Formats: sequence, C-alpha cells, structure tokens
Amino acid sequence: MNKAIDPALMHAAEAAHSTGSTLPASLSAYWMPFTANRQFKQSPRLLVRAEGMHYEDVHGRRILDGVAGLWCVNAGHGRPRIVQAIQQQAARMDFCPPFQMAHPKAFELAERLVQIAPAGLGKVFFANSGSEAVDTALKMALAYHRVRGEGTRTRLIGRERGYHGVNFGGISVGGMVGNRKTFGLGVAGVDHLRHTHDLQRNAFSNGQPAYGAELADDLERLVALHDASNIAAVIVEPVAGSTGVLVPPQGYLQRLRELCTLHGILLIFDEVITGFGRTGQAFAAQTFGVVPDLLVCAKGLTNGAVPMGAVLVRDGIHDAFMTGPEHLIEFPHGYTYSAHPLACAAGLGTLDTYAEEGLLTRAATMGKTLADGVHSLKGEPGVIDVRNIGLVGGIELTPRPGEPARRAFDVFLDCYDKGVLVRTTGDTIALSPPLIIEPSHVDQLIETLRGAIRRVQ
Ligand SMILES: Cc1ncc(COP(=O)(O)O)c(C=O)c1O
Repeated sequence: MNKAIDPALMHAAEAAHSTGSTLPASLSAYWMPFTANRQFKQSPRLLVRAEGMHYEDVHGRRILDGVAGLWCVNAGHGRPRIVQAIQQQAARMDFCPPFQMAHPKAFELAERLVQIAPAGLGKVFFANSGSEAVDTALKMALAYHRVRGEGTRTRLIGRERGYHGVNFGGISVGGMVGNRKTFGLGVAGVDHLRHTHDLQRNAFSNGQPAYGAELADDLERLVALHDASNIAAVIVEPVAGSTGVLVPPQGYLQRLRELCTLHGILLIFDEVITGFGRTGQAFAAQTFGVVPDLLVCAKGLTNGAVPMGAVLVRDGIHDAFMTGPEHLIEFPHGYTYSAHPLACAAGLGTLDTYAEEGLLTRAATMGKTLADGVHSLKGEPGVIDVRNIGLVGGIELTPRPGEPARRAFDVFLDCYDKGVLVRTTGDTIALSPPLIIEPSHVDQLIETLRGAIRRVQ
C-alpha cells in the first residue's frame, strides 16, 4: 500500500532526493529512545552520512560532531580499518554461538583490551551495551562474594547523579531521578553516596576541582549503617557524564579506593564514556591513578560502529569462580550476542586505529585547547559553571524559571541549526568531540556555542 509522505518530511524528501538519500515515508511507527518524540517529529533532524569530524544531514548540510555521536565515535566517523574489518567479518562468518563455543577474534580482542587496561585487570567478559555491561559487573560482584562464602555481601552502593544505563540494575544504582521515578522499586538493597557537584566551592575549576575528597567518606557512613559484611560493591563513574560532566575532586577516587580495600568492598568504575582515550589515557583509571576491581566499558570499544560492552575484571575475581567440577558453567550469565563476531572485528579495527594514530593519549594535549575554549565562555549570559577534563567539556546554564532543561535544549537546537551537534543534560551542555579533533574544529564548536548562548536567553 502506498502511504502519503509525512508532511514533516516533505521538505526533507526533496532535499534527500537531491543528495541521493532514501527517506522513510512516515515518522509515525518509530518510538525514539530518550527523545522528545513530538518535538522531533515536527522538525526532524535526520542524519544520512558521516565522515571524520562531520555528519551530513538530509539537506546535505555538514554538521560538526561535537559529541562523538554519543560519546562513542572516538576515532571519528567512517574509519577505513573499522569499516573493512566489519565488512570482511560479515562476509566470512556472521554469527558464532558464544555459549560453549567461540571464535578466535573474541580471544584476540580480550587480549588486546588487557594490554591497554590498568595492570591487574586481566580478564574480559563481553556484553552488547553499557547497560548490559553494568548489570554484568553488578551480578559478578554479588556472585564473587557468594562463591567465596561471603554471600551476605549483597548490598550495592551507587552515587547520586550517577548514570549506569537503563537496565534495572543500572537505574537502581544510578542516581538520576528522571530515570528512576517511573519504574517502580528497582533492585532491592541499594544505597547511594552523595554526588560531588559543588558549585559554591568548585565553579569554573579547570580540570579536577579542589574541594570534595571528603565526600568519599560517605562510604564510611554506609558501612556504619549496614556493616561491611553486607556490602558487595560500590559503582561510580570516574567522571559523571550524563548528569552534567562532573569531574572527580582531587583525592576523591583515591579515598574511595582506600575505603573499599579496607572494607573488602569491590570498586567498580563505569568507564562507558571515559574509556578509550577520553581523559588523556586509555582509561580514566590510568588518568587518575586509581585501579578498580571491575571496569565497565562500551561505546569507544568499537568506535560506536557495532554495539558492544565489556567488563574488565581483576584476575583474582575471575579465579575465585574457577572451582568445582570442570564440566559445569562457573558464572551463569551471558548474552546471545556476547563477543559477536562483527563487534569483535570492529573492536580490533578500532584498537588498531587508536594505536596507529596515538588517539588514546591525544586528549592529554588537545584537551588543553578545548579547556581554553570552554573556559572562554565564562561571563557569557547565564553561564554559571564550566567544567572540563581531557576532551570533555561541560557548560552549565541558569535554568529558565519554571522550565528546567529548556534553555540548554534551545541552545542545542540553535547549534544544530548552525551546523554543530552538541548534547544537553538538564541545563548543562556537554561536549565530547572525537579525539581526532583539530584546533579549527574547537574554534567552530566554541564560537557556535557562544553565539547560541547569546541568542537563547
Ligand atoms: C556511564 C555510563 N554507563 C552506562 C551507559 C549505558 O550505555 P548504553 O547506552 O550503551 O547501554 C552510559 C551511556 O551513556 C553511560 O554514560
């Protein structure tokens, strides 16, 4: 049956025709994730191509990617090694069952990850997204204590303003009310540390803020309340991204590590956005000099090209499971698509690209250019804080009275209109460009943002 073209797409359809793109006849059926669906469908933002630092939309406009897609396209778009790796793997073997079977690239990718990981994280468990990897790490922590005879350690500790994906484990330990309030009780036995955001003491810090290390002592309060013998793990993002780019105060992560070690509590770093060069080293654990017991990653693992997540695990944790009859499954967990051949191929192509171009440490130098840029926005209308680390920037705006998140959303729309993709969370604008960014791109990003902040009051 021929369907009439959606009116919102009429204009786009003409443009698409001229750029050779195929457009959907209707926008109706697709319920978009984390999207203001009605607003979007009135004024769709449709991307059809990507290369290097840029997207191209249906109108043939070039859009500078200020957010690496969604914090994931760290090597930039359309990288040949990754494209070829996926194409070749798809032609050779589409799928391999991951339970009781495997394919060589799964082992190769795990080894390559261990080589760039903090020392001691010698084992890798694959999932298909950050959310799945988070839930995998939480289950692993519970199972680890149990297998060692400490089965009372069931309590999980997250942090206010944490984001750990959208599965039940992740939203339970997460600390974003908008993602939690709608979905019932979540996982039982969860508690939260306070967040580290402190505008009064730390506004406009360049890099790690000076104040707040003592907030890690919240863990002592929770230990006093529940007793360490009941606590399995603490999970934090080294840098909280989705709740507005919250950089850890100096000494905070070190203190958290000390307390976890003292009380036999596992420390999980959720490095879904900080992994793969975002903060100037392969992982934020290395940038901050703090090694967790489990490290969750995703996104930049395959440069966003094929879904994949992973948990890097301290050897001793893995080894604790390797008891009992050898024909039995040691950890009853995994996904049909764990270590999917296309994802493994993409991951290997990605790690090659990072290595060949020195991208995993590029943020250590290019981050200074971005820092200068974002901090030059201090003094612009409504800018109440600027935060940065590596190739991450956060610009916090005063909310419009009675309309939280509206002002930043309008800045996002204005930037898109001017050919630059940024992201917002609440009234914070977050920047996380591909690590291949050049100074001229930083200029365009910052000046477009400055113009938008001035226009949108
Ligand atoms: C810190 C963190 N953890 C977990 C996730 C969830 O990852 P995914 O969307 O791949 O499930 C995200 C996504 O942005 C994230 O930023």
